[in-house]
Amino acid sequence: MKFISISEAMKKGKGKVAVRGWIYRERGNNKMKFLVLRDSTDIIQCVLDRVKFRKKWNEIDKLQVEASVEIEGIIRKDKRAPTGYDISVDKVNIVGESNEFPIQKDLNEELLGDRRHLWLRSKKMMASMKIRSAVFFALHEFSHKNGFIEIQAPSISGAASEGGSETFEIKYFDKRAYLTQSWQFYAENFVNALEKVYAIAPSFRAEKSKTPWHVTEFWHYELEGAWMDLKDDMDIAENCIIYVLNKILKENKRELEILEADISMLKKVKAPFKRIIYEEAIKKLKSKGHKIKYGDEFGSAEERGLAKYYGDRFVFVTNYPLSLLKFYHGEDSKKPGTGTNFNLLAPKIGELVDGSQREPDLKKIQERLKKAKMDLGASNWYLDSRRYGSVPHAGFGLGIERLVAWICGFDTIKDAIPFPRTPNRFNP
Ligand code: 4AD
Ligand code: MG
Repeated sequence: MKFISISEAMKKGKGKVAVRGWIYRERGNNKMKFLVLRDSTDIIQCVLDRVKFRKKWNEIDKLQVEASVEIEGIIRKDKRAPTGYDISVDKVNIVGESNEFPIQKDLNEELLGDRRHLWLRSKKMMASMKIRSAVFFALHEFSHKNGFIEIQAPSISGAASEGGSETFEIKYFDKRAYLTQSWQFYAENFVNALEKVYAIAPSFRAEKSKTPWHVTEFWHYELEGAWMDLKDDMDIAENCIIYVLNKILKENKRELEILEADISMLKKVKAPFKRIIYEEAIKKLKSKGHKIKYGDEFGSAEERGLAKYYGDRFVFVTNYPLSLLKFYHGEDSKKPGTGTNFNLLAPKIGELVDGSQREPDLKKIQERLKKAKMDLGASNWYLDSRRYGSVPHAGFGLGIERLVAWICGFDTIKDAIPFPRTPNRFNP
């Protein structure tokens, strides 16, 4: 008989079916064995009667959680069964045994981390990974629909891309190399060829800060477009988030329910998002008792405080003081001393997207580099984008785990990536 998935079997609802999967729960007595079977689509209760399985009963009786089996039998509605159906089993084939599966209730975080490869079989992680996959797909779809071309850049580079202490240094034969923090330097050169480009790739950050919203390897959705200004850039970021969200709400209802995500809150997210300048943000924060002054960096409390101030909504903050910005962000000619940059802050999480209209002028960039006492070193090629036909352009980077975690209502982005990397954890 042809195997079908458990959800297909339940859709069929009656007659003979063949399904296969892993044992999610088991219980029994000397007459019956109840196996709840799991596959990637759902779970279903399977009932085995000792009378039917005389010879095999010993083996069946010993079956444990996470053993893999193939089953044939008659499916029918049964209100008492966990998913409303059960299978009265005629044939069973034990494919792989399991012995004391080492994931039990109430394991501490450390042990769950050690056994992450097994924990991924849990209902929560399976739902999370399905939503994650759907988010990746939606980001690709959004980019293509808007005319952006996917372009890859290397993860290994001869220079630290954006500089700073957050770069992982690696041994590269007898030389030193760095893991990329961002695709941006490549992107700003690609725009002079393909105009509208994007990438989804891992970025690496050697950050010790252990907030729930940081991992050392995260997946970065980055986009860059020629002829775009700050407003275009923010509009695209906004449309992108709405696009992804609507798609997940439509196509991942089941996973959102399993995760007990706040669906009504997600449905309330609408464009346009609030847009304020940094100076105004500082005033609002001060009025709420935050100890912060013009020129200070926002901490996570401030970022989350701002989203809260605006009724738990997404907030774009633009025009940060140049002193807080990297050399490549443009300067706003209408508000000198501030950047044509933005951060998009999400409720609960804080910074979700970081972008800007870039500085197109070679001389200005060189001055900014000098001021920052920064030498591009082996990344000096980056400036060729400004040497040969420089054009106005803008782009942004979005942390995909943060978006997934926000949609799912997780308390940490570690639940939004299969194998999170943190300062203390790089195995399995
Ligand atoms: O703010 P970041 O560092 O900006 C850049 O890398 C720019 N070059 C992007 C660009 O303009 N092309 O990172 C962008 C986003 C952040 O807003 C955040 O969502 C996410 O990447 N991010 C992290 N996510 C998880 N763990 C970390 N350690 C992260 N660091 C940044
Ligand atoms: Mg940032």
